[in-house]
Amino acid sequence: MEYLKNGVSYVGVNDFDRKIFDALLPLPYGTSYNSYLIEGCEKTVLIDTVDFAKSEELLKNLKGVKKIDYIVSNHAEQDHSGSIKVVLDKYPEARVLTTAYCKSMLMDLHHIDETKFELVTENEEVSLGDKTLKFIFTPWAHWPETFSTYLMEDKILFSCDFFGAHFASDELFVGDEKEALKNAKVYFAEIMMPFREILKRNLEKVEELELEIIAPSHGLIHNKPRLILDAYKSWLYDEPKNKVLIPYVSMHGSTEVLVRDLESKLKDNNIEVAVVNLEKEDLGVVAEHLVDSKFLILGVPTLLNEAHPVVTMTASIIRMLKSKMGHVGIIGSYGWGGRAIESIENSLEGLSVEYFEPILIKGLARENDLELITKLVEDIKKIINY
Ligand code: FEO
Repeated sequence: MEYLKNGVSYVGVNDFDRKIFDALLPLPYGTSYNSYLIEGCEKTVLIDTVDFAKSEELLKNLKGVKKIDYIVSNHAEQDHSGSIKVVLDKYPEARVLTTAYCKSMLMDLHHIDETKFELVTENEEVSLGDKTLKFIFTPWAHWPETFSTYLMEDKILFSCDFFGAHFASDELFVGDEKEALKNAKVYFAEIMMPFREILKRNLEKVEELELEIIAPSHGLIHNKPRLILDAYKSWLYDEPKNKVLIPYVSMHGSTEVLVRDLESKLKDNNIEVAVVNLEKEDLGVVAEHLVDSKFLILGVPTLLNEAHPVVTMTASIIRMLKSKMGHVGIIGSYGWGGRAIESIENSLEGLSVEYFEPILIKGLARENDLELITKLVEDIKKIINY
């Protein structure tokens, strides 16, 4: 066991080998399922559990723990709730402390017996003897039932997914701040970003607490909470930058010619640009840039008369993530059929953005085709200088 503070220890598990989350999100650094044990002078509490696949490791980490009075379930998603039944089997006297909403989800997801629960309400306090838990409701971070648990005397917030990052490590606390923020930003983009408005209210609640530690359910623990709080403030509130994000695929190089011409002309005009080759880089790179880009230009070749499906899928995910980006363009090439634009527009349908005139070139772009790219850059400049 590793200690965060006296009587508060880390009993979570690293998953260095996990490569993907939600069968979608790449995990270049694996992940961790953070679980914490709080031993008060009267009651012992486990904060969240771990993915079922790692339940044996959790039990090993609890070796020597004679009783658990409560399992706090901050969030019903299986990566944190998946071992609740295993823990209840080992500690049958334990009760699951959670909200009515989370309880109903846990019963649906794991068929946990109703008698195992005790419900808590917002700001309710539960004494462990010399330590006190307080429940801070932080919904939509990132499911509707999600809440956080504040350990009052030790000033620790167990925030579950809120402020987390997918990062497996043998270290306990954030060391390399730059790396920690980069991982947290990708994580924010992939699962928190669509819920920005309600997260602003959650952040306000957290800011009211006296905090020495923020202990999320994934990744390293923040013993300098200001770092992650300020980052969330920026990601939630700041206006997007005058930055152009260009995710693209190119099968035979024709779309790449358009993308590189656009990149070069944007740079000539001192406009920040992030080019992401979707064949080589993963979705996390796109998501990270989405957090602060005002412009999105998708580079798409045509395959079997439609948009290349890697770009179509990326467009669908971009729509789901609801970033602050306000202007979208589509550029690409085709050989004999030209329905790529329509496919991408369908994938983005419902986004509240303004579209640039799409640029779809037959074959390899000629000099006069590239004038369309020049015009696109001029249109971007007009918006920036407006
Ligand atoms: Fe880490 Fe939403 O579960």
